[in-house]
Amino acid sequence: MSANSFGDCFRVTTFGESHGPALGVVVDGVMPGVPVDLDALRAEVARRRPGQSAVSTGRREADEVEVLSGIFEGRTTGAPIALLVRNRDQRSADYEALKDVFRPGHADWTWGAKFGVRDWRGGGRTSGRETVARVAAGAIAKQVLAARGARVTGHVVRIGDVEAARFDPAEIERNAVRCADPEAAARMEAAVLDAKAAGDSLGGVVEVVAEGVPAGWGDPVFGKLDALLGAALLSIGAVKAVEFGAGFALAGMRGSASNDALVAGGFETNRMGGLLGGISTGQPIVARVAVKPTSSIALPQRTVNAAGEGVTISVPGRHDPCIAPRLVPVAEAMVAIVLCDAALRQSAIAGAAADPGAWEAEIAYRDAELLRAVAARAEVARAAGARPSGEAAERIAAARREAAERLGVDATVADAVFGALEEKR
Ligand SMILES: Cc1cc2nc3c(=O)[nH]c(=O)nc-3n(C[C@H](O)[C@H](O)[C@H](O)COP(=O)(O)O)c2cc1C
Repeated sequence: MSANSFGDCFRVTTFGESHGPALGVVVDGVMPGVPVDLDALRAEVARRRPGQSAVSTGRREADEVEVLSGIFEGRTTGAPIALLVRNRDQRSADYEALKDVFRPGHADWTWGAKFGVRDWRGGGRTSGRETVARVAAGAIAKQVLAARGARVTGHVVRIGDVEAARFDPAEIERNAVRCADPEAAARMEAAVLDAKAAGDSLGGVVEVVAEGVPAGWGDPVFGKLDALLGAALLSIGAVKAVEFGAGFALAGMRGSASNDALVAGGFETNRMGGLLGGISTGQPIVARVAVKPTSSIALPQRTVNAAGEGVTISVPGRHDPCIAPRLVPVAEAMVAIVLCDAALRQSAIAGAAADPGAWEAEIAYRDAELLRAVAARAEVARAAGARPSGEAAERIAAARREAAERLGVDATVADAVFGALEEKR
């Protein structure tokens, strides 16, 4: 089985199983010296965590991320970045009874047909749990993209037959279904709980938008950005369809209505979802995925056992009654991974000097260092109490002059910095 790695320059390899000791990811290809905010990474992983609400699985996992390699003192070292998330709340006994039957809608039957053996505990490697590793990798990709001014946001636009009618990004993380329309969110939540109470499940649609992607990312012909994004999104369990921009609706339009007119300063509309010829147009990239209703349901379903005999099963265990809300951070992660890969490839074509992102990341890191130093200085000044005067003040001024000279900082710049600090004292 060789399909556990994804990406070219930004290469992600995930490992681990739903009921094994841990899941993890190795991210290769990030330049050394790139700042990584581990708190932001952990917050991203927490968004996917199970057990967040009544509309997600009851499995309780803290999903703490351990950094095994590749990040030192807040920066990448150039070594592979290895991240690990331990499984703590497996309940393999829930699956004992299903060991010799194939759950409908799952990969049990096809995995058996392909490999002859399978880990029956919670779906093993085909479990949605594998996606925790993708979200951890995606969080790094998001940070690399942020330094280039790009950001990826996902939200649920449909669950069952309830559709979002408005878009307020501030609402997305405020409700359990991650919908940008609070009124629709309440109805979606009720619909999921209804289906759950009936022992059933619901599907949905997740939209992912990437903003700030400059024109020119993506490679013709097999490396088209739509093709890579499509593959990335379709690799997520339960995703059965992907569309970009107006997507399937384009099939019913005329060319005169579907083309995005080019006008001075850009495009008039974005029916192509920010992609032409597999290359980004500079507009937001808009993708939507259809998420099937959760396969594991309590209602009885017909299937066969390993002996080929017809049986009826009800799937116990803890499951997401609708996968779409938890799939949002996973879809964002996969889009970020593809875009990060495309960004690094574009940098290779354009040359590092033409890559503003590299400088922006460096400046952002240096600014943070500067603020850390200012905070430490303020702490000392507070402890010291009164401003230094007389000989002490002169000694400090001389030390500043000497440091400015040694570091090649213009004396007027140094004076301005220290003047501002003294004023804030
Ligand atoms: C975040 C996430 C959580 C999932 N949770 C469940 C679940 O609780 N129960 C279930 O039956 N499937 C769940 N799935 C979907 C299965 O992993 C998936 O349907 C199954 O492996 C078959 O793959 P396919 O649907 O892509 O064909 C989840 C998927 C994701 C991405």
